[in-house]
Amino acid sequence: MLISIESSCDDSSIAITDIKTKKLLLHKKISQEGEHQKYGGVVPELASRLHLEYLPKILEEAKPYLKDCKAVAVTNEPGLNVTLVLGVTMAKAIALSLKIPLIAVNHLQGHIYSLFIEKENIEPHTTLLLSGGHTQLMEFNGYSDIKVISKTLDDSLGEAFDKTAKMLGYPYPGGIEIERLANSGVDRFNFPVPLSNSPLLDFSYSGLKNAVRLQIQRSTNLKADECDIAKSFMVSATKHLTMKCKKYFKTNTPKLVSIVGGVSANRYIREEMSKLASSFGAEIIYPDMSYCSDNAAMIGRCAVDAYNNRDFTSIDKLGVNSKFINF
Ligand code: KG4
Ligand code: ZN
Repeated sequence: MLISIESSCDDSSIAITDIKTKKLLLHKKISQEGEHQKYGGVVPELASRLHLEYLPKILEEAKPYLKDCKAVAVTNEPGLNVTLVLGVTMAKAIALSLKIPLIAVNHLQGHIYSLFIEKENIEPHTTLLLSGGHTQLMEFNGYSDIKVISKTLDDSLGEAFDKTAKMLGYPYPGGIEIERLANSGVDRFNFPVPLSNSPLLDFSYSGLKNAVRLQIQRSTNLKADECDIAKSFMVSATKHLTMKCKKYFKTNTPKLVSIVGGVSANRYIREEMSKLASSFGAEIIYPDMSYCSDNAAMIGRCAVDAYNNRDFTSIDKLGVNSKFINF
């Protein structure tokens, strides 16, 4: 078995995964969402202090498994430097004291592995990562073969959901609130679909966010308009995704497609992406709802492949990195 630690943003999480069977033996997570809500977003220093409090608490529960752990895995990029460093420090201490190898896991690769928790890998396939920090289309061909096709040029989709919620007066993280409001709304504002005339496969959400902001400023009765604003935003944001994916699918005809990351919990996006995939005769897969947002189970599952590939890292060389560079 191996132990995995996730602390890239506002979720403190630790998991124990069986290397042979890929079974999840323990999975604990303490979300800090409630604590950041009053500030309207994640406050890095507060997140860091809370990880310092929560991670040792969760580690207590993992203690009975430690003597049987063959490796320790940790998210080291991308994310908030001040929170990543806490998970990395804990992982180094475990590696040193148990004399076991250390595995560095890229958080975005971890999200792809959320599809394979307690399962075998599904490869090759095309995956659309939609999280709070990233929006990117990728080809997953295996543990050490992930190709980035396109990325967002500015905001991520999760950020656009969160900012729309904030402008409507809802707390962080706002994605789920926007989906709830949109379920009672109609798409009557016809917000622009970003980059709809561009040949690029890249994504962009800053223009749409601006259109939403202008509409909110124009509204004379925001309470009466909020569901329709949420719906109109969600429809345009999703059209942008499906248009870009369609462009890519036309030339690459994938047989299998997935959506991963926090925003992949959104039912409307799942439905629209599912329609698109089936129009290309492709199958679509999603992570279990409980593994869409950040968690150590996906980091542990990715680490199983790292372990089997002997992809270890040295204690003195492992650092953290806030930005995604490559896999
Ligand atoms: O992957 P994740 O947990 O964290 C990062 O790695 O960034 O994603 C968090 C994002 C937040 O922006 C949150 O608002 C969004 O996922 N989210 C949703 C939904 N549930 C979470 N967005 C839209 N609809 C949802 N149901
Ligand atoms: Zn994430």
